[in-house]
Amino acid sequence: MNDLYDTPWLYDLQHDGYRDDLAFYRRLAEDQGGPVLELGAGTGRVTLALAEVGASVVALEPNVAMRERAAARLAAAAQRRPALAERVRFIDGDARTLALDERFALIVAAFNTLMHLERMIDQDAALRRVREHLAPGGAFACDVFVPRFGPPGVVRAEPAWAALAGPGADLFTWQHHDPVAQVVVSHHRLDRLDSGGGVTRQAATLRQRYYQRLELERALRAAGFSDVRCYGDFERGPVRAGSDVWAFVARG
Ligand SMILES: C[S@@+](CC[C@H](N)C(=O)[O-])C[C@H]1O[C@@H](n2cnc3c(N)ncnc32)[C@H](O)[C@@H]1O
Repeated sequence: MNDLYDTPWLYDLQHDGYRDDLAFYRRLAEDQGGPVLELGAGTGRVTLALAEVGASVVALEPNVAMRERAAARLAAAAQRRPALAERVRFIDGDARTLALDERFALIVAAFNTLMHLERMIDQDAALRRVREHLAPGGAFACDVFVPRFGPPGVVRAEPAWAALAGPGADLFTWQHHDPVAQVVVSHHRLDRLDSGGGVTRQAATLRQRYYQRLELERALRAAGFSDVRCYGDFERGPVRAGSDVWAFVARG
């Protein structure tokens, strides 16, 4: 169902320009001052930002296409700054079954990665594993979007993203939301003109299990985390009714 991740260039088209969270995760890496484990590293958007502030990063990503694109991004950046390549190690893996020999000063699951843990048993397993992989004094940080959905199935044109796909491209998105299962499925269709004058259509979907704020806070506490903080933005402001994200920092 999450075949958006099998077309990482389409994922990047929509998300690569997102910068709101980078300073939040960079600052945590600097404050924690030790090795970082990134869960769901995707195409390396946050990975690179962490490496740029000197962090050693183990970047775990289960999708091979996403991982390869992240590695290519790192290789490109390392042409200008070779030290970056030495700081990052990409690994295959799954947050639910994490079993590494190393322990980390900081573990991050940025940009809705926890939303791929659909069942409570998966969430609890992953959070327990995360805590076990923290070094003494270590911190876990993650963020999830605040669930707010428009009417189901209404198609939206996304001209700003389509423009990135080249002249004549059209990108449309729509969502179906199941409030009982707390699942939202996002559909993406990209139409591009090919060289023969025809149209090539790329379709992708993304399924996410969204959270309520106190649900995630309770899950973190149940996994043994202490000092669980939830912020309403990436500047560590309070949670407000209009917050778009919940950013959590918890101690092991
Ligand atoms: C929304 S993307 C976030 C990517 C990246 N962190 C970013 O900020 O752009 C979520 C990522 O989590 C990965 N993922 C899905 N299930 C996972 C799991 N069980 N354990 C770890 N990562 C997972 C996906 O393959 C995807 O790359």
